[in-house]
Amino acid sequence: MGNKIIGIIGYGNQGKSQALNLRDSGLNVIVGNVNDNYAKDAEKDGFKVYDIPEAVKKSDIIFLLIPDEIQKNIYKNHIEPNIKIGATLVFASGYNYFYGFIRPRSDITVLMIAPRMIGWGVRDVYVNDQGFPSLVAVGQDPNNNGYSILMTLCDRLGMFRKGGCAVLSSFKEETLVDLLSEHSWVGVMLYSFRAYYDVATELGASPASVILELYASGELAEIAKSMRDMGLFNQLKTHSRTSQYGQLTRGPLYITDEFKKTLKNEAINILNGTFAREWNDEENNGYIVYNRLHEMAKEHPMETEERKLYKILGR
Ligand code: NAI
Repeated sequence: MGNKIIGIIGYGNQGKSQALNLRDSGLNVIVGNVNDNYAKDAEKDGFKVYDIPEAVKKSDIIFLLIPDEIQKNIYKNHIEPNIKIGATLVFASGYNYFYGFIRPRSDITVLMIAPRMIGWGVRDVYVNDQGFPSLVAVGQDPNNNGYSILMTLCDRLGMFRKGGCAVLSSFKEETLVDLLSEHSWVGVMLYSFRAYYDVATELGASPASVILELYASGELAEIAKSMRDMGLFNQLKTHSRTSQYGQLTRGPLYITDEFKKTLKNEAINILNGTFAREWNDEENNGYIVYNRLHEMAKEHPMETEERKLYKILGR
C-alpha cells in the first residue's frame, strides 16, 4: 500500500470501524464527511476530517461507507468530479454498482468488501485479534491489479484472522442474498410474531408472557448465536426433546408451495431491478409508503404492551 491515502467517506456503523482497523494496521487513513456529529466523532478519534470533495481529491483508495440510498447523489455531485485518475473505489454492498446507479469512470478500479457483520462488530473482533467474514468482489479492473489490492485491504481490515474469511462473490450475488433475506425470513419473522401475539392473547395469554417468549427475554439472540456456532439444525441439540420434536414436525407445515413461489418471485424482482425501481420511486416521492407502514406498525396493540414491559425491564 506504500504511501497511498485511504479516504473513508462516512464515519458511521462501518466507516468508523473500518477506518480504525485500517489505521491500526498501519495505513494512512483520512475521513471525508459532511459537517455533523459523525465528523466530530472522527475528529475525536484523531482522524483528519475533510468535506467529501476534499477527501476524495486527496485519496488513492476511497471506501464509500454512507447509506446505500444516498450514495448515488453523493457520488454524482461530490465524488465523480473529484476522484483521482486511476483511483480505487470500494463499496460495502453490491446495490448501487449492480443496478448501475453508480457507474464509475473506466479508469477506476471497483471493489466490494461487504462485511457479514454489523459495524461495531468489525472493530470489536479486530481489537480481540479475531477476523470477520465478508463477501468480496472485483467489479472493474482497468490495471489488472484489483484482486491484489482487494486482498491487501481485506488483510489490513483484519478479515483473515481467526474466525474470518473472504468469500469471493459478485455485486449481483451480494445484492441478491442481502435483499432476499430482508424480503423473506426477516420480514416474515416480524409479521409472524405479530400473528402469534394476536392468536396467543386471544386465547388468554398475557401480552408480557408473549413478548418475553418471542424476543424480549434474549433467548432468540442465544438461538441465533448457537446457529452461528453449531449450525442451523445441529443447534437443535441445545433445545429439549419436546421442543425439537415440535419444531421438526410443525415448522415445515408453514413452508407451502405458495411460500416458495412468493420467495422465488421476490428473488426475481430483486435480480430484474423491480424492487430497486420501486424503492427509487419511494425515495423520489418523499417516503410516503415507508412512513405510513411505520405508522401502521405502531398502531398494533403489541406496541403499547411492549413499551409497558420494557419500562418494567428498565429498557
Ligand atoms: P451509516 O448509516 O452508519 O452511515 C452514516 C454516515 O453517513 C455518517 O458518516 C453520515 O455523516 C453519513 N451521511 C448520512 N446522511 C448523509 C448525507 N445526506 N450526505 C452525506 N453523508 C451522509 O451507514 P452504514 O450502516 O455504515 O452503511 C455504509 C455501507 O456499509 C452501506 O453500503 C451498507 O450497505 C454497508 N454495510 C453496512 C452494514 C452495517 O452493519 N450497517 C453491514 C455491511 C455492509
